[in-house]
Amino acid sequence: MMDWTDRHCRFFHRQLTRRALLYTEMVVADAIIQGARERLLGFDEAEHPVALQLGGSDAQKLAEAARIGEAFGYDEINLNVGCPSDRVQSGTFGACLMKTPVLVADCVAAMKAAVKIPVTVKCRIGVDEQDPEPALDTLADGVLAAGADALWVHARKAWLEGLSPKENRDIPPLDYDRVYRLKARKPNEFIGINGGIQSLDAARLHLDHVDGVMLGRAAYHTPGILTGADAMFYGGDAPGAFDHAALIDAMATYAARHIEKGGRLGHVTRHMVGLFHGLPGARRYRQILSTDATRPGAGPDVLKKAFAAVDFSGAAAEAA
Ligand SMILES: Cc1cc2nc3c(=O)[nH]c(=O)nc-3n(C[C@H](O)[C@H](O)[C@H](O)COP(=O)(O)O)c2cc1C
Repeated sequence: MMDWTDRHCRFFHRQLTRRALLYTEMVVADAIIQGARERLLGFDEAEHPVALQLGGSDAQKLAEAARIGEAFGYDEINLNVGCPSDRVQSGTFGACLMKTPVLVADCVAAMKAAVKIPVTVKCRIGVDEQDPEPALDTLADGVLAAGADALWVHARKAWLEGLSPKENRDIPPLDYDRVYRLKARKPNEFIGINGGIQSLDAARLHLDHVDGVMLGRAAYHTPGILTGADAMFYGGDAPGAFDHAALIDAMATYAARHIEKGGRLGHVTRHMVGLFHGLPGARRYRQILSTDATRPGAGPDVLKKAFAAVDFSGAAAEAA
């Protein structure tokens, strides 16, 4: 998620779940080919498994960007066919590609030929006046025939004109059944669902119908829910085993390293504000992160002070 799931956010989320697949922000293929690669693509080894999401619609450029991403060590390349923002539309990528399924399939084929790691696609159920029945089937048939290893579907349309990107994440109604029908038509392909899923319990219910669940805003705003994911979905330690002391240590050490390299504490802590939601002391924790931690020169001691404000004694599996 752009501006949200940067490397600091992903490192933090990785402390909460060892197994869930994490996604980068969308990175435009052209930028990777021309730009400062370390800044755009650099990530911490601890983030694995991590998928690089690309934006673009030029098959050769996407193939080249995918190759670079693979060489950087990413575990998966994902193509964005769902993002409706203006900036993205002007470059012919994102959700408007729902209208050119043959082009998307060509892009996937080129990316598949370029890399050995999985290539996946994230799309909508349709855009504008499209009928989601044929629109999603056509897109899915094309990309899966081209070799896509998974299709993730944000279960609502995007309106390319008239709604802001934010409104496009809330106003078009969710239609989970449409994604379930796609899965029923494609029993042997990985079909994942996304959109409006607020909790792990809700995620589990979707797994009766589809192969995977992607959480966006809920994971970002209430990251503590991620601490239950390994036990619920990956056979990890039973709930109750979450180690807050290890989390504090890992984040303080990580922040110190970032600051040493010229970064600021706030780059790391801005993603951590929603942790501990509902626990005694959470409000003081949030206050410290949004004031002291944002000051120039703030160090990891501020993060430790914020953690010290929280009473974990009642917290079991979920830090939220
Ligand atoms: C701030 C923000 C940035 C986003 N950036 C991206 C992006 O770069 N690529 C993408 O595929 N989706 C992006 N999304 C959409 C989410 O991935 C997700 O599809 C959408 O929020 C619906 O899922 P949710 O209800 O679980 O959040 C973004 C969402 C938000 C809120």
